[in-house]
Amino acid sequence: MAQHGRFISFEGIDGAGKSTHIEALAQALREAGRTVVRTREPGGTPLAEKIRALALHEAMDALTETLLMFAARRDHLTQVIVPALARGEVVLCDRFTDATFAYQGGGRGFDWESLSLLERLAQTVQAPEADLAHKGMVQPDLTIWFDLPPAVAAERLAGTRVPDRFEAQPAAFFEAVRAGYARRASQQPARFARIDADQPREAVWRAVQGAVQARGWL
Ligand code: TYD
Repeated sequence: MAQHGRFISFEGIDGAGKSTHIEALAQALREAGRTVVRTREPGGTPLAEKIRALALHEAMDALTETLLMFAARRDHLTQVIVPALARGEVVLCDRFTDATFAYQGGGRGFDWESLSLLERLAQTVQAPEADLAHKGMVQPDLTIWFDLPPAVAAERLAGTRVPDRFEAQPAAFFEAVRAGYARRASQQPARFARIDADQPREAVWRAVQGAVQARGWL
């Protein structure tokens, strides 16, 4: 029987602890017989990974940063995400457009309406191979948002690695990013599953599983 493609994104401030749960979910879905594509943004294609290296490490203004995020996204969407969905696979994407609203919108103060315009432009796909559910403006089917106070996230990150341009930001920046996620979630509540990430890992994992099971995908 042909399976429906499913597009799941994972969001949260730096240090929210997404990675281990993305891996665990990929494994659970594979055990359930699904083909899973694990990918990330910015990145996911050779071109978008080059853009990632620039966006995370070179100084630039907020508009340049925003345009680079969307340029990387367009390439990733057309080269990897849409074809995988059309094949009936599950795409697990570490960050997607909500990160642009949260980081460039909330964090950098870039205006929300312009972001919506760029979102529509970059994510509209009319490729004949796209499946019906993922044509027009492509959005994740489900976004799992790992929410936690920035102070807790900063504690988790402390000393683990050399920070990139975003991780090096002060607490106030992450408060604004968190508010950006909250705004996005309130605008599209059906797509978002907010998970309290300030809990033991096992409890967070149960919540992640629950969000996917509630949709009948696991
Ligand atoms: P992240 O996903 O946290 O990867 P890693 O775990 O390897 O550090 O890093 C990506 C960074 O890029 C993160 O700080 C958020 C930022 N970002 C944006 O500012 N806008 C975006 O649209 C995306 C996708 C990411």
